[in-house]
Amino acid sequence: MQKVAVIGGGTMGSGIAYVTARAGLDTVLYDVVSEQINAARKYHAKTLSREQEKGRLTQEQAAKVTQHLVYSGNLAEAVDETDMIIEAVPESIELKTSLFRDIEQHVRPDTILGSNTSSLPITEIAAAVGRPDRVVGIHFFNPAPVMQLIEIIQGLQTSNDTVEAVVHFAELVGKEPVVVKDFPGFVTTRVGLMLVSEAIFALQEGVAEREALDKAMRLGYNLPMGPLALADLIGLDIVLHVLDALYANYHDDRYRAPILLRKMVQAGHLGRKTTKGFYDYAS
Ligand SMILES: NC(=O)c1ccc[n+]([C@@H]2O[C@H](COP(=O)([O-])OP(=O)(O)OC[C@H]3O[C@@H](n4cnc5c(N)ncnc54)[C@H](O)[C@@H]3O)[C@@H](O)[C@H]2O)c1
Repeated sequence: MQKVAVIGGGTMGSGIAYVTARAGLDTVLYDVVSEQINAARKYHAKTLSREQEKGRLTQEQAAKVTQHLVYSGNLAEAVDETDMIIEAVPESIELKTSLFRDIEQHVRPDTILGSNTSSLPITEIAAAVGRPDRVVGIHFFNPAPVMQLIEIIQGLQTSNDTVEAVVHFAELVGKEPVVVKDFPGFVTTRVGLMLVSEAIFALQEGVAEREALDKAMRLGYNLPMGPLALADLIGLDIVLHVLDALYANYHDDRYRAPILLRKMVQAGHLGRKTTKGFYDYAS
């Protein structure tokens, strides 16, 4: 594996491109919005200088990472001769399937087509292209340079060779791979959101105050933050959207969203990004 294209330079794509370039892979970051490319470039420069300040990278090593990073606004050019693409555009099945169809026109038949989706079916994305055996979920976590896990999702038609190649890729970039099957929510989204959802139900029922609830979970399970604080960090609109999607897929009451969550989203209290969620972040 030598050359990777990251498609979409937002929160996740810019972080993923940094991870692959830092690991010595030639990396092209592609976005349709030029401001996003500029923002990614700035983020990379800032992260590199922070790593040098902390003594994690020498000036020479930082210069090498920069050499490995190329930015592009042209899809055909960006994905040309790549061993792998990692798509990180917004969470829309229509957008992702049409993009994969486009990308397929410009890559070698053996290029691995990875998606960073956190909830969409890999099998459905794969069905849009001629080589579904090469399509796989490569689920990084936010912030990508810091978080250790890559959840690798094997769709119904994803070949074992593709999964194996992505396991090697994960190790190459210094991450911990875990392979899971393509069920809605995979493991991390499904199980993690159940914890968040149950905490919101408990709050709604008055079992405990928000601080007490989060403190109990933090100390009782040695978690870095409580589930309500986690919901604020993810964004309550995203939590609701994913719970609704899980419910629509499994038709199981376990995934029904708490009314309190729905009300907070209706009120525009989406968590950290609006400075108000279960906690207040205005100050
Ligand atoms: N943010 C998270 O915490 C997180 C964590 C894990 C996975 N994910 C998943 O990663 C993906 C991206 O999420 P994000 O938070 O980085 O989104 P984002 O909105 O920050 O970034 C998306 C980027 O894609 C670009 N884009 C839109 N259409 C495009 C196209 N046709 N071609 C190329 N670029 C295009 C946008 O300009 C933007 O820069 C989603 O599937 C999301 O579910 C997000």
